Amino acid sequence: MKLTTDLYLGDCREELKKIPCDSVDLIVTSPPYADQRKSTYGGIVAEEYVEWFMPAADEFLRVLKPSGTFILNIKEKVVDGERSTYVMELILEMRKRGWLWTEEFIWHKKNCFPGKWSNRFRDAWERLLQFNKNRKFNMYQDAVRIPVGDWAKNRLKNLSETDKVRDSAKNGSGFGKNVSNWIGREMVYPTNVIHLSTECGNKNHSAAFPRELPEWFVKLFTRENDTVLDPFMGSGTTIEVANKLRRNAIGVEIVPEYYDAVRKRFAAADTVDGKIRKEQKLPERGNVARDVKNQIIRIPEIMKFLY
Ligand SMILES: C[S@@+](CC[C@H](N)C(=O)[O-])C[C@H]1O[C@@H](n2cnc3c(N)ncnc32)[C@H](O)[C@@H]1O
Repeated sequence: MKLTTDLYLGDCREELKKIPCDSVDLIVTSPPYADQRKSTYGGIVAEEYVEWFMPAADEFLRVLKPSGTFILNIKEKVVDGERSTYVMELILEMRKRGWLWTEEFIWHKKNCFPGKWSNRFRDAWERLLQFNKNRKFNMYQDAVRIPVGDWAKNRLKNLSETDKVRDSAKNGSGFGKNVSNWIGREMVYPTNVIHLSTECGNKNHSAAFPRELPEWFVKLFTRENDTVLDPFMGSGTTIEVANKLRRNAIGVEIVPEYYDAVRKRFAAADTVDGKIRKEQKLPERGNVARDVKNQIIRIPEIMKFLY
């Protein structure tokens, strides 16, 4: 089957209107966080964040298939000694607009930023909020199984009688386990905490995902030939991963330099049989703001790479 990767230059709140309803299996994205990276691309104030984000969220709801999933990587920062509440407000507003907040994954950043504060410790995690349109959605849990780990070798060597039956927890929680169920299992399901280092190779973008992050969600929520969307594409990590895993991909990016960098990366040999159908020049540096507005004249609306 032919795979496609469509790249749109512009504001995703507008560009996504060109995409049909119920056509995307998975959205994985990291938008600009409130009050962060003003000098490069973002800087929406926390108080206005929900209002800014909702037109995009409404488009995501429209383009996502009923069986699809939306994964939103976001984290509130500390302002005046307090954690901002805009992410919580965002969740509440999305629920009002029809989204189900089905799960929250934690990205544990193994190499989190160094520092010392008198009233808090280093911030070593970010949220990955899961939203769905329905309670029943596509999920391929076997695709993300992990090795059981060395603990199993010793623990399963000499099982007691209790280990061979379902043993209820002594604290009355109602939980129980049968340790012998682990025998012979090489691979097990992970938890909802994902342990990964941040991207250090920077890829000419200040907030690029480590590849393994979108990869995990693409494997968990899609199959080959499904369609993955990253509406805040940045350096295109999600798009590249989707392509390598033989999924169709759609990316939207508002900054021409980032958009062009992704386009060039797709021309490189490390994509799935990649071949650029159309080559077009970007405007000279310095015209960026004007070109974003007048993009139709200077920059292709859609670059489509066919395989
Ligand atoms: C946190 S970065 C995404 C990084 C990406 N996950 C990666 O791996 O490189 C957010 C990106 O969204 C872009 N952006 C900001 N507002 C946008 C909008 N309204 N529509 C499309 N892209 C936007 C920014 O230019 C930035 O590149």
